[in-house]
Amino acid sequence: MSFQIAVDGPAGAGKSTIAKKVAAKLGVVYVDTGAMYRAMALYLYRKGISADDQAGISASCNDADISIAYEDGKQVVLLDGQNVNDYIRTPEVSQMASKSSANPDVRKKLVQLQQKLAETTSVIMDGRDIGSCVLPNADVKVYLTASSRVRAQRRYDELVASGIDCDLDQIEREIIERDERDMTREHSPLVQVPDATLIDSSYMSVDEVVDAIIALVSSKEE
Ligand code: DC
Repeated sequence: MSFQIAVDGPAGAGKSTIAKKVAAKLGVVYVDTGAMYRAMALYLYRKGISADDQAGISASCNDADISIAYEDGKQVVLLDGQNVNDYIRTPEVSQMASKSSANPDVRKKLVQLQQKLAETTSVIMDGRDIGSCVLPNADVKVYLTASSRVRAQRRYDELVASGIDCDLDQIEREIIERDERDMTREHSPLVQVPDATLIDSSYMSVDEVVDAIIALVSSKEE
């Protein structure tokens, strides 16, 4: 039997950092579904499709060849067989991903892929609709959030560390804009499902959040 942990929450809440650590401690596979939406966005961006052209996105998304591989335990997203991890975190791709991920055809394609990944393997999967849609029967569901300023600061630090020039206020504005879109979209909006445990990481260390999730897993296994 595979064990499923669903982690949902807004951009920059620390989902991937936390989920990677929990995965390593529990020996389960980490699946970053945001990276899959980002790879799709990169595909559409490279094709020159406008983020507001929903018909164009629907017509093109099924041709995108997106898959997941693991190199040295790290998730690698492949677009047409090429590792695109280094190209999917730019502000342009983030904005495109926020809009293209609202498209029902994009979601249908990627949700199928994500469900297939979790069929045979124990996973911790993070995203926006994992507890509500991708893994509705997950053993543990967590809704991880933090204030918009704290989240903006975290994204700023990541971008600066990878050599990308950016502005903190601008990042916070974009995060608030993306939250609004992710939470109010028609298809699979970001919600805290009733059976998810809320964790606000604004004033918690990474290890404190990891320990809180592991405690939830242990309580389910008892
Ligand atoms: O988690 P992230 O910032 O890497 O996600 C990129 C975009 O993809 C974000 O705007 C929300 C969207 N997304 C989604 O709609 N559903 C998911 N399961 C994961 C991400």
